Amino acid sequence: MKPRRFMPSGPLRGTIRVPGDKSISHRSIMLGALAVGETRVTGLLEGEDVLSTAAAMRAMGASVERLGNGEWSVHGVGVGALLQPQNPLDMGNSGTSTRLLMGLVASHPITATFIGDASLSKRPMGRVIEPLSQMGAAFEASEGGRLPLTVRGALPAVPIEYRLPVASAQVKSALLLAGLNAPGITTVIEPVPTRDHSERMLRGFGADLSVEIAADGARVIRLVGEAELKPQTIEVPGDPSSAAFFIVAALVVPGSELTIQNVGLNPTRAGLIEVLRQMGGQIDEVDRREVGGEPVADLVVHHSALNGIEIDPAVVPSMVDEFPVLFVAAALAEGTTVTTGLEELRVKESDRISVMAAALAGAGARVTETEDGLTIEGSGGGPLRGTSNSRTKTHLDHRIAMSMAVAGLASRDGVEVDDTRPIATSFPMFEALLDGLSR
Ligand code: S3P
Repeated sequence: MKPRRFMPSGPLRGTIRVPGDKSISHRSIMLGALAVGETRVTGLLEGEDVLSTAAAMRAMGASVERLGNGEWSVHGVGVGALLQPQNPLDMGNSGTSTRLLMGLVASHPITATFIGDASLSKRPMGRVIEPLSQMGAAFEASEGGRLPLTVRGALPAVPIEYRLPVASAQVKSALLLAGLNAPGITTVIEPVPTRDHSERMLRGFGADLSVEIAADGARVIRLVGEAELKPQTIEVPGDPSSAAFFIVAALVVPGSELTIQNVGLNPTRAGLIEVLRQMGGQIDEVDRREVGGEPVADLVVHHSALNGIEIDPAVVPSMVDEFPVLFVAAALAEGTTVTTGLEELRVKESDRISVMAAALAGAGARVTETEDGLTIEGSGGGPLRGTSNSRTKTHLDHRIAMSMAVAGLASRDGVEVDDTRPIATSFPMFEALLDGLSR
């Protein structure tokens, strides 16, 4: 364990750049590994989760290399040509790597065993096992559909039509990736839209993929299988989920004015910014442009007096990873913030509802946990006053560690985090960036 106390900070001023988007980074490597020829990627997130994906794709035959100039080069094997991995695939902490790669393996004539750390080994995989079994793959999973688990792929896999029972981009993407090597059309119906990077990138790599809006508003995604993917040059935009920590930090630390460059603003990811604006946060967009087929802008964030609000559960999928840090903003706002519809947060890297309830209570916030959310009475902008011996338990969850680091900046006596090591899964430079600003 690597504990650290995050101390109160003076104004955050200056300009920073956050690392590449995690979702897009995973997909760049996976799709590059399925295209014949060389894909080049700039701005790839070099976090542990993405490195787990890279190692797995190497184990299945692709070459994935970092070049001297920081670019990444992926030489793919082609759809249908993944090789049998010789050892279990170690997914570390990464749910995205696990679920998406289970989809890839499911339609190849190979067998792969997936293992992971204590956090990942608690997470439910039934949500992908069920539809991938319908496609013909066979699974041997640990109790409750968890890791370690073994996937035996099917050839040919059966293209299915599947309506997502949970709003999950990981499940959607697992099915689309499996569909790439199935003969015929794989259809995924999404009643609630989730991040659409897979759809955008599959099209970018030349797959025949269409999206139609059904009469009931659901998105119907159809992918033609036995696809041939063409290698691409990809520029990965900055990760809005990483920017989120600095956006909230600048909003809650008095006197701050911070510019965050190159932040991805895909509408399926930008819910937090909208919600913070509704709470009174001043977040301005400068130089809106496109990077790698995604909308991007520089954000200028000013310290703002925030007000508590009731958050519409419809926005949850567009900010599903941002609730831990939103809770910190709520704890420093004037009045009450009510969140509902967050049951998915209980099956992330940790149970983010109960872990954040405990962490914020220890930091001196007034929090009530409900089945599907938190209700938080804000401090009205005053610093959080925790008990001096309380320590945030991060439970191997990077976003808990970074959220409570932000809480520390706006506290009276600092906030202790029990383990900062998980931060490296998604944002290895987080502490260095923060220390550079808050000195
Ligand atoms: C991700 C989807 C989300 C998100 C995760 C990354 C992805 O999970 O929480 O961090 O890259 O597809 P769910 O789609 O399961 O909610």
